[in-house]
Amino acid sequence: MTLLAIETSCDETSAAIVRDGFVLSNTVSSQVALHAEYGGVVPELAAREHLKNLLPVVRSVLGDAKVTANQLDAVAATLGPGLPTALLVGLKAAQAVAFALRKPFVGIHHHEAHLYSPWIGRGDHSLVANFSDFQPNVSLIVSGGHTLLVLVEKELKHRVLGSTIDDAAGECFDKTGKMMGLAYPAGPEIDRLAEQGSPKAFDFPRPLLHDASDDFSFSGLKTSVRYFLRDNPAILDDSQKICDLCASIQAAIVEVLVAKTIRAARRRNVRCITASGGVTCNRALRQELALACKKNGFALRLAEKSLCTDNAAMIGILAERKLAQKVPTTGLDEDIKPGWELA
Ligand code: KG4
Ligand code: ZN
Repeated sequence: MTLLAIETSCDETSAAIVRDGFVLSNTVSSQVALHAEYGGVVPELAAREHLKNLLPVVRSVLGDAKVTANQLDAVAATLGPGLPTALLVGLKAAQAVAFALRKPFVGIHHHEAHLYSPWIGRGDHSLVANFSDFQPNVSLIVSGGHTLLVLVEKELKHRVLGSTIDDAAGECFDKTGKMMGLAYPAGPEIDRLAEQGSPKAFDFPRPLLHDASDDFSFSGLKTSVRYFLRDNPAILDDSQKICDLCASIQAAIVEVLVAKTIRAARRRNVRCITASGGVTCNRALRQELALACKKNGFALRLAEKSLCTDNAAMIGILAERKLAQKVPTTGLDEDIKPGWELA
């Protein structure tokens, strides 16, 4: 089966062609530079950019995969959650293609796609899904908008264990970075600066670390950084102290994410942990998760860095699995679901 997938839930315009588990092509056109000027994603601008970029991105994935529109067997797109006007662009375009080609359409939950992205690995020539290795797992989805722990009992069967009760982990990186004067999104820059700093230099709270639930909270950490900077403004004039601050904030976020993920997996008796979402690019998080999994005897599957952030490859791979398992297709009049919660 050859499938075209489209993802436009936030600020990346992405399309992919997948065929029988292989990602033949995957293009992501990022709007990060545009939104950086405003210090965050501006929904109206995001939608206009998707309108501008979608056709070139779809043309490029068809060309890269050497596939013509007439060879497509199905079309998929993200239904939600996400920014309403952004979602509309990708969904309605995908439904129009499915209508014109008279092919099935599959609407995908963005976070459900993240759950399976760690099972897409680098094959000899392209990215390829390897579900023959699949095993029950606890999956951490950690991005700018979400922080979720999900039990994936088997393929296409999952249950949310916990989520953030306030800010997402990526938001905490971005907002504390903004307080330090770093450009949006600050996560990658904090990651880079933290390499030169000491994670023990400053002691920040580890919210809900010992709480019995699988939920997260990051707004208290953000507030304590705000007060710390109010009381110690000279820190920002010292480049070494900025690195120490980045390392200390990062250490607090990573410790909570790792400890709660390991505990959730232990409690549910699974032997495997997976992680995806933009924050999974963070080097300290990847390293600490690997160490903790080794120590506790868990197999670890981290999404490929290129698939941690939003992409259509994961949408296409999940859509293909759903079609293969005879999950009902989605109507061409189906609407966007901006607030769709993962069950
Ligand atoms: O998944 P994503 O591209 O978009 C959504 O939020 O859906 O994630 C973006 C988030 C931003 O908050 C960004 O700062 C964070 O991921 N991020 C990082 C790193 N790379 C991206 N945070 C920490 N360290 C990184 N290396
Ligand atoms: Zn995402």
